[in-house]
Amino acid sequence: MKLKSFLWGLTAICLLPASLRAEAGPEWLKKAVFYQIYPSSYMDSDGNGIGDLPGITSRLDYLQSLGITALWLNPIYVSGWQDGGYDVIDFYQVDPRFGTNTDLVVLADELHKRGMKLCLDLVAGHTSDKNEWFLQSKSGKDLRYSDYYIWTDEISEDEKELIKKRYEAPDPSASTIGRFVEANAPRAKYYEKNFYESQPALNYGYANPDPNHPWEQPVTAAGPQATRQELKDIMTFWFSKGVDGFRVDLASSLVKNDPDKKEVSKLWQEMRKWRDENFADRALIAEWFNPDQSLPAGFDIDFYRIGGRPGTPGASMNLFRLNANRNFGGATQPKAYFDRAGQGEVKAFVEAFNQTYEHTKNYGYLSLPTGNHDSERMSQEPRTTQDLKVAMSFLLTLPGTPFIYYGDEIGMKQQFGLPSKEGSNARSGCRTPMQWTGEETAGFSTATPDKLYLPVNTENGKITVEAEEKDPNSLLNFVKGLLKLRAGSEALGNDGSWVYVGDKEQPYPMVYRRSSDYEDYIIAINPSGKKVKTTIHAQGASTSAIAYATGKGSYKILPKGKGDVIGLDACSAIIVKLEGCQQCDEK
Ligand code: NOJ
Repeated sequence: MKLKSFLWGLTAICLLPASLRAEAGPEWLKKAVFYQIYPSSYMDSDGNGIGDLPGITSRLDYLQSLGITALWLNPIYVSGWQDGGYDVIDFYQVDPRFGTNTDLVVLADELHKRGMKLCLDLVAGHTSDKNEWFLQSKSGKDLRYSDYYIWTDEISEDEKELIKKRYEAPDPSASTIGRFVEANAPRAKYYEKNFYESQPALNYGYANPDPNHPWEQPVTAAGPQATRQELKDIMTFWFSKGVDGFRVDLASSLVKNDPDKKEVSKLWQEMRKWRDENFADRALIAEWFNPDQSLPAGFDIDFYRIGGRPGTPGASMNLFRLNANRNFGGATQPKAYFDRAGQGEVKAFVEAFNQTYEHTKNYGYLSLPTGNHDSERMSQEPRTTQDLKVAMSFLLTLPGTPFIYYGDEIGMKQQFGLPSKEGSNARSGCRTPMQWTGEETAGFSTATPDKLYLPVNTENGKITVEAEEKDPNSLLNFVKGLLKLRAGSEALGNDGSWVYVGDKEQPYPMVYRRSSDYEDYIIAINPSGKKVKTTIHAQGASTSAIAYATGKGSYKILPKGKGDVIGLDACSAIIVKLEGCQQCDEK
């Protein structure tokens, strides 16, 4: 049966239209496990309290031992530091706080020696207001960079109101309210911004230019075409230094007034073609949070959104956000699924995820990251190491590309109540320095604790790499083992298929199958504080074996195909290998 399915697969690949096969991205993505580093907070090599590139290079053995194959670094370019590096002054130069361009080349080389890859952050949508391009654009209409940005002398009364509102905020420079900034520059009175006012939007044109708004240029105009070319130039520059790909900031919003994302999709299709023709082994990762759009538009990977403000995609799902109402003005959000309270739902997630997975699997990869530099870490009270092991059992057995946010592998906690740092606002709490050892500065820096980028809290040395490496039951060792299992299995890997086999109406446990032509695994997850039991359809195996687990669970195959019974203790997860799977192909 397996041979038959193999031959079928082969025939199917040969019969695929050339255009579909061409969708395949770089080969290395098949096995990629990414690790995201916020560079100011990873490892400080020169004792100034801020992380840097040589610091990262010094930690590659650790990352390799964890099972990481690729890094994504948040922006490392010369920056005005009004938004954690997302306000770029010079895209072609490493910020001196991190070292030099040569340090970047050394990092890439050292990674490559270990068979690992390096991806940077491409801040495609805007620059710093101190960027030379903007300074020139500000000063006149007919200069080289004049139309890199969007200028107007007229904005609506509503927009003027929003500017006023921004100035009523406690810190207007760290407020995202409104679209325009009053600059009173020689070029014009207002410019369009993207996020903070120090981040003027780059001009990729408008999908539907309004004839009453002369500043809205079509995407084909000279300015928007020049910014497109500049993006290619930036990528080429870093590719030539050994960079293996980019995560593209705000990838979906480059073209303005493009509600169905048609024009921005065309832009990325053009980039994809250019990439395929010139740099076929480099990866394009979207910050789009909508793989149904971004992967057909040419990206290799996009993040799958779970949770969010009411009315936004994913709002009906809540896997991890505890205190769901805290940031939502009391609006009703479902309770978190990963919570001992066991009051979460699974149906909305399973149905939406399944639909997106089926729609996009021939284009590229989904990713459900463990965290990122914009979100609260999942390792917050009252979650314990055990809860985190269950969460990791889920996140690291999904199809697509795993992304581990630095520190999540040791359960670094969200720090509440920290001051805003370089435009972080509440995001400081997930950007604190990596905790290597139990010393005062967590082995992150030789600076005095008051000089650290943000404070550390190792809980008396407990939440550190040093302590967890020594403890066989630590989260770190659990994650390592899980990644090792994943790396050795096609079924559990990025391309293995995924199908939900649990009962969607009975949220706990969550049960899904991962398969390749030669292997089948069942994963059962119970984050609730109660013991649970479920019977799923017979999966066609003659025997089963628990390949990896946390807590306690069992898997029993009933005789005569009457079903497979799964039992899980409170807060437990099992990864079960099915053996002798004669009928598995027909399931
Ligand atoms: C998304 C980035 O992830 C975030 O950190 C940044 O503030 C905004 N884009 C603006 O660049």
